[in-house]
Amino acid sequence: MVTAVPSGFVVQAPAKLNLFLEVLARRDDGYHELETLLVAIDISDTIHFSPAEKGPIELRCETAAGRAARERAAGLPGGWMGDVPGGDQNLVVRALSRLRDEAGIRAGGTIELTKRIPAAAGLGGASSDAAAALMAAHDAWGLRWSRHDLADLSAHLGSDIPFFFGTGAAVGRGRGERLEWLTIPAAMHVVVARPPVGLRTAEVYRACSPARAPVGVAPVVDALERGRWDQVAQRLWNRLEPAAERLTPWMGRMRGAMERAGCLGCQMTGSGTSWFGICRHAGHAQRVAARLRNAGLGYVVTATTRTGSPPRAHGASATEGGPHANH
Ligand code: C5P
Repeated sequence: MVTAVPSGFVVQAPAKLNLFLEVLARRDDGYHELETLLVAIDISDTIHFSPAEKGPIELRCETAAGRAARERAAGLPGGWMGDVPGGDQNLVVRALSRLRDEAGIRAGGTIELTKRIPAAAGLGGASSDAAAALMAAHDAWGLRWSRHDLADLSAHLGSDIPFFFGTGAAVGRGRGERLEWLTIPAAMHVVVARPPVGLRTAEVYRACSPARAPVGVAPVVDALERGRWDQVAQRLWNRLEPAAERLTPWMGRMRGAMERAGCLGCQMTGSGTSWFGICRHAGHAQRVAARLRNAGLGYVVTATTRTGSPPRAHGASATEGGPHANH
């Protein structure tokens, strides 16, 4: 949802978890054919975009103040946040440059990105930031594209980005960009933990062998749609997990810590390095999180899945909260 504020446009960019990820085949274009189940969770970065009539697209990035202070107060080691690339290296800047080129306009602007989602963590932070920035710049620049057209453009920049134009849960096929949206009856409580190391997505895929006998996504989708979190927990699956375990000893440690912390089930998300545990309710999630913090893991948060909606097929703008400013 894009909100107009006096200085520009603001969008929240949620993180995601992969409850299921099967690698079906290696493709000729270097990507892998996937079947995955993605859910958005309520840990979000914030994108604030201030448009300019012309000029560069600039990025300012900061760690959310409260978050950094809390981590310091808890005496946690640095590095849980990972490195966020600056300038043209950042996916957000590349996405807006591409939108500007495709739209044939000269507009520019400044993106202020407030990070709460750790990077290189399998949580989709960079992809979600890019989707949010595209929605903000689209409205700020007064374009009239459908959300579907924006999502199509974004798929060229990253396989996970189209998911973030909706807000709930979806099965992803192809590279992960072909989405079938799901309706989830209620929010599921989870604990998310990221060790003080990250992994590069491409490296993890390289270390992974596609399935000889693929596991299907249908049973976990069925459990999720019926709100049976215990069954979701039993049916978690991620083919990238053994590959990531070979690349860093932290994955084995995470598995041990998550299992001892007493959640219903646990798994690495995406290409790692974050893990999540499924919990019965908020109180259970708080207890699991406390145990993981005592075990000395750097970044541990509780979260809930979002029961949102797919992107709307029509209607160029989803702006709320006032007149379009600064065109
Ligand atoms: O699509 P994205 O840019 O996020 O992918 C990063 C890298 O992850 C790709 O360059 C590729 O090496 C790997 N990847 C893959 N198969 C996918 C998605 C990503 O091999 N379906």
